[in-house]
Amino acid sequence: MSLRKDFLWGGAVAAHQIEGGWQEGGKGISIADVMTAGDNVTKKPRVITDGVIEGENYPNHEASDFYHHYKEDIAHLAEMGFKCFRTSIAWTRIFPKCDETEPNEAGLQFYDDLFDECHKYGIEPIVTLSHFEMPFYMAKEYGGFANRACIDFFVKFATACFERYKDKVKYWMTFNEINNQADPIPHHLVQEGGILPWDLEGKDYEEVMYQSAHYELVASALAIKAGHAINPDFKIGCMIAMCPIYPATCKPEDILAASRFMQGKYWYTDVHVKGKYPNWLAKKFARKGYNIDITEEDKKILKEGVVDYIAFSYYMSYAVEAKEDNPYYDYREADFVPNGYLKASDWGWQIDPVGLRYAMNWFADRFDLPLMIVENGFGAYDKMEDDGSVDDSYRIEYLGNHIKAMMEAVECEGIDLMGYTMWAPIDIVSASTGEMDKRYGFVYVDKNNAGEGTLARSRKKSFYWYKKVIETNGMSIFE
Ligand code: BG6
Repeated sequence: MSLRKDFLWGGAVAAHQIEGGWQEGGKGISIADVMTAGDNVTKKPRVITDGVIEGENYPNHEASDFYHHYKEDIAHLAEMGFKCFRTSIAWTRIFPKCDETEPNEAGLQFYDDLFDECHKYGIEPIVTLSHFEMPFYMAKEYGGFANRACIDFFVKFATACFERYKDKVKYWMTFNEINNQADPIPHHLVQEGGILPWDLEGKDYEEVMYQSAHYELVASALAIKAGHAINPDFKIGCMIAMCPIYPATCKPEDILAASRFMQGKYWYTDVHVKGKYPNWLAKKFARKGYNIDITEEDKKILKEGVVDYIAFSYYMSYAVEAKEDNPYYDYREADFVPNGYLKASDWGWQIDPVGLRYAMNWFADRFDLPLMIVENGFGAYDKMEDDGSVDDSYRIEYLGNHIKAMMEAVECEGIDLMGYTMWAPIDIVSASTGEMDKRYGFVYVDKNNAGEGTLARSRKKSFYWYKKVIETNGMSIFE
């Protein structure tokens, strides 16, 4: 069982979920700053408000206060032996509104300091440009990525980052989980495309989504071209949320449904990697009467700005049953059924380590590019004991089983895998629910859903476990 010697072991976070400091250093308001806290127990969803409203609870405003704790946090990662650290750059620290002509120096300086801190310990920063935190101003005044104008705003932001960090960051990703928009949940469209829910009223969700995704894909391709011109050694990838969709049974219609649903959720990878749309999508646009603005110039740009590697997140899998009222097998969550072979987390996420190996093979069969697993983790309620310890053996079990499946895919199927960054080494705010109590970390952050706590950091049991995993290049999993 051998991973490459320079395997990138590490962890991943996103700026808006960890940093806090929402108004520091000239930062503008992001879409994450106008999302209230939800709750898994009462099933209260996050709400997107029209600006910051007094008295509401916005968990991302302070988050884990990494803005002020980053030195301590990076030191913890170094203690575990991290080779890399994936984070994102908050767009609103660099361009607070989006249409300024010059970037904000204080914002750029913050990431200079952060990346220097990583390099001090030999930790390679891996950077996502847009991870659910685009400027609220861009969403409100321009309508987010449903508007072609936003392509230029993104490219300007990306170029400013590439130029500034050309000697400090080698690995980049353009848009986090661009394909989650396939799920017609308003918070996905706002997080991935910057489209506010009230701008969707009276419109066909799917048509808006295809348009927004197209402009993002063009923006991504243009950014990749610009990045490679700035530093030819840059490795710039896409980032796909991968939840494999299995057939519910071996009934041929279920098999076909699963295959078509995979197309429906993962076509974004085709465009990122091959620089062109698959044929079935043109057929679907025609059938649905969607009028998507895709120009000949766009098609050329997509071809020229393909990615260098495929990064993906993996948490769970789904199963689908063919339904008579869905004769074209269009992707829709209503056709999903529970998988009786799998258990689920307290948030209903089905636990499936084998699915990770399946996903790696699925990508490798279709695309001839290296892969990187940039998110995989277990959100759980942790309990701190009186002596300050946290026994998170369930997290060790989840991560251990997934790392084992990952190593089997490398060893048995020869998958070209660059690295693994688990989600998320320090406790942070959940993206889907806004909770602090949905914890992923090796490092506990003393703060609860109500926002109470000292923000003190402490090591959980899994901290020591992951240190050993890295030390042995994964081999300790088999002990
Ligand atoms: C991914 C996102 O969807 O899953 C992260 O890229 C997110 O931002 C992670 O935090 C886990 O989801 P959640 O909702 O548990 O935070």
